[in-house]
Amino acid sequence: MNNYLIFGASGAIGQAITNQCLINGHQVHQIFRSNNFKHEATTPNCHKYYLDVYKEQELLQLATLLKEYQINRIINCAGILHTKDISPEKTIIQLNPNAFVEIIKANTLLTALIAKHLLPLFNKNTKSVFAVLSARIGSISDNQLGGWYSYRASKAALNQILKTLSIEFKFKKPNAVFVALHPGTTDSNLSKPFQKNIPPKKLFTARFVAKCLLNIIETIQPENSGSFYAWDGSTIQW
Ligand SMILES: NC(=O)c1ccc[n+]([C@@H]2O[C@H](COP(=O)([O-])OP(=O)(O)OC[C@H]3O[C@@H](n4cnc5c(N)ncnc54)[C@H](OP(=O)(O)O)[C@@H]3O)[C@@H](O)[C@H]2O)c1
Repeated sequence: MNNYLIFGASGAIGQAITNQCLINGHQVHQIFRSNNFKHEATTPNCHKYYLDVYKEQELLQLATLLKEYQINRIINCAGILHTKDISPEKTIIQLNPNAFVEIIKANTLLTALIAKHLLPLFNKNTKSVFAVLSARIGSISDNQLGGWYSYRASKAALNQILKTLSIEFKFKKPNAVFVALHPGTTDSNLSKPFQKNIPPKKLFTARFVAKCLLNIIETIQPENSGSFYAWDGSTIQW
């Protein structure tokens, strides 16, 4: 049994990963956004924490609560592409500074804060995995189409944070594995407005994606730390 800490647990992929972890017999600690810090255990294997994920004090409080569990898997499934006020840019003319900052905050800063406050939970002597939901679109070498400046930049920056963590912790925690994951186009609120040109076979269910990503997380080894993988285990170039 592994102990999973899942940020973005309310999202389609976060929820599906939670469900699959429970089916696989793991313990899950789910993180939800809220202005009032709260912890509840729904079952002995499923704990829910409600907090402001950008408040360092609350992340520290969370880390203190989690000390009694041997957290050895952290997955950040949170992320935004659009909101009611934000749409991905087709041209640089559409770039909005406030939207850019909001997207970087959710897609990049959050992972850095999670790493800062929760990596101390990993045991130095046993395998642990820090995984982030990135996107192929964050790959600079794969950029053929252009557009989506803020989202692309936020995921490229997320990849850089992930890679840099893998270097910092190579000696500090040699059994920790850092991995960026591309889930493929997955049916969720995030992808909803962009699904119409996706062939049905290429639009995955969150359940399918959860199984694929957990398979990678459970089989990846420390020598592959600092990698970027698609849902099918294929490597994506940064
Ligand atoms: N779906 C796809 O096709 C696809 C493709 C490539 C990559 N991804 C990546 O996969 C991840 C999960 O996506 P999904 O499809 O499961 O999306 P989703 O169903 O829309 O879930 C998004 C999650 O992000 C959280 N969130 C939203 N705004 C936030 C903010 N400002 N700060 C912190 N958290 C915020 C949501 O929490 P609340 O419920 O509290 O709002 C929710 O838990 C994202 O990082 C996304 O970029 C998805």
